[in-house]
Amino acid sequence: MYGMVNKALEEMVCARLGDAVWEEIKTRAGVDVDVFVSNDPYPDEMSFGLVTAAAEVTGLPAQALLEDFGRHWILCTAREGYGELLDACGDTLPEFLSNLPSFHTRVAMIFPKLQPPIFECTDLTEHSVRLHYRTHRSGLTAFLVGLLHGLGARFDTELSVTLEQSRDAGADHDVFLLAWP
Ligand code: HEM
Repeated sequence: MYGMVNKALEEMVCARLGDAVWEEIKTRAGVDVDVFVSNDPYPDEMSFGLVTAAAEVTGLPAQALLEDFGRHWILCTAREGYGELLDACGDTLPEFLSNLPSFHTRVAMIFPKLQPPIFECTDLTEHSVRLHYRTHRSGLTAFLVGLLHGLGARFDTELSVTLEQSRDAGADHDVFLLAWP
């Protein structure tokens, strides 16, 4: 994944727990990189290793950490670094969600080697939508849950997120029912 992912994790950990904790996490993960370059691709294993090590060092479950990271991504990383991209995707939560399937196509204009997730929206009503999430990676469902709650907070809209079908339980892909007032 692009360095911006590792960099965002670094920023979240350093802001909340301090630089020394981040150094300990990198050492535990066997990552010998001083500065992550946002637009250089790094092996996925490095990002997963950093999350695992962060969970071990902080004592937090990896799933909780990933969910937190998703919120941080929307409310800090994306807002500060890619505000125009976010703004262009919609002015309301329902609008943003309906544009999500094409969102990473725009991101790929900046990051051409992007291997993005694939989103599909079905069963759209005034107050709900089913979001289908497909990816060749495993273990990022909690990250997406955090991203979705981050979007709810961004638009000041109470969003309920229900995982209806999950790859962990043998389904072909994850399906979320998203609902708002
Ligand atoms: C400006 C905002 C955003 C940027 C710049 C961005 C960029 C990226 C990048 C660089 C990756 C790593 C993939 C790679 O390097 O090959 C990624 C992954 C991912 N993004 Fe985004 N993204 C943004 C917003 C969103 C939003 C709003 C969602 C959904 C609510 C989302 C869902 C995901 C997920 C779930 C992954 C994990 C990869 C996977 O599932 O395979 N992203 N994104």
